[in-house]
Amino acid sequence: MITSKFRNTWIEIDLDTIGYNIKQIRTKLHEKTNIIAVVKANAYGHGSIQVAKKALQSGASALAVAMLEEALVLRKAEISAPILVLGWVQPEYAKIAAEQDITLTFFQKEWLEQVNFKSLMKPLKLHMKWDTGMGRIGIRTEEELNEVIFKLRQMEKIHLTGIYTHFSTADEQGTDFFLKQNERFNQLLQAFQKKWPDSVSIHTGNSAAAIRFPEKMHHYIRFGISLYGQYPSKWMKSMQFISLKQAFSLHSTLVHVKKVKAGETIGYGNTYMLKQDGWVGTVPIGYGDGWNRKLQGFPVLIEGKRMPIIGRICMDQMMVLLDQAYPLETKVTLIGSQYKQMIGTEEVAEYLDTIPYEVTCMINERIPRFYRSVTGCKN
Ligand SMILES: Cc1ncc(COP(=O)(O)O)c(C=O)c1O
Repeated sequence: MITSKFRNTWIEIDLDTIGYNIKQIRTKLHEKTNIIAVVKANAYGHGSIQVAKKALQSGASALAVAMLEEALVLRKAEISAPILVLGWVQPEYAKIAAEQDITLTFFQKEWLEQVNFKSLMKPLKLHMKWDTGMGRIGIRTEEELNEVIFKLRQMEKIHLTGIYTHFSTADEQGTDFFLKQNERFNQLLQAFQKKWPDSVSIHTGNSAAAIRFPEKMHHYIRFGISLYGQYPSKWMKSMQFISLKQAFSLHSTLVHVKKVKAGETIGYGNTYMLKQDGWVGTVPIGYGDGWNRKLQGFPVLIEGKRMPIIGRICMDQMMVLLDQAYPLETKVTLIGSQYKQMIGTEEVAEYLDTIPYEVTCMINERIPRFYRSVTGCKN
């Protein structure tokens, strides 16, 4: 990972907004509902170690990631909070998870059979996943549930510490499918509790479900996108259920500014021609950084004004049409605010016909992240 700033392109992560967003959701939740901060995919592109530490300091009590590797990165950074791996992990790696006190997700009887529990030096903590309608991973029927419980009972050194499900439409206006999933979860829960009297942690809600239905949440919520100050959907933003502040901003500077005559073309394939004489600036960011080529035509902010990206975006650089000559190293904001103007991740997502989740994930580690907090800016 690049950590120093030799190039003029950088990401700023405002860690104080992570604390703010946790405070906002906290005011909605029942006092007994705790927060798992979801920091998978390098904390949605924000930096998993820094975000995890800030989230834990700000009131989250556990972390979730998608893969064992991501959990090990956090343990290596001396983060000792509970960590849940949300994805499927090969059963032979259960030993590593147990050694590092990392909780794994399981949902297959065969998976339990393949864990060599005799090799476990420490107990392995597991959360059982139920598929109530997402169609991705999880137990779907009572029959499967009974088989898994039967198997679990025979296993030593394995501690079932949680059960959970995931909603597929909690961010949408219509609530029918959300309620159906919730109902299926409650039915499976009834069946489970008859056979498994020990207490386990229960969690169902992602950001959308937690924000909209805090009264339906159980012991934990899994708080992802809104931890970073983004709304789960455009509709949810418009409803103003919660006030959030975006943590992520992306900046660069002008590294070349030139006057170009009408009729001259810009970039590979000559796809853009100047209609009149104008000023063109070059910005050192491109698709090699994850700044998608489809963003041709999208604006950037310079001195609080919107100026379009012209021509095809190159691997490491792109050009913008300026309204006047600017000095070299003038700041260019690609995501974030300048003066009173703002380009949010939602706007980038809409232009790319995707969701804000993908926008912060797509900006890769070639761009250094700098962390801002009341104590100043550091990397
Ligand atoms: C299983 C699971 N739980 C929670 C989350 C967090 O969801 P959100 O980012 O919408 O809060 C995700 C994210 O994709 C997930 O896969």
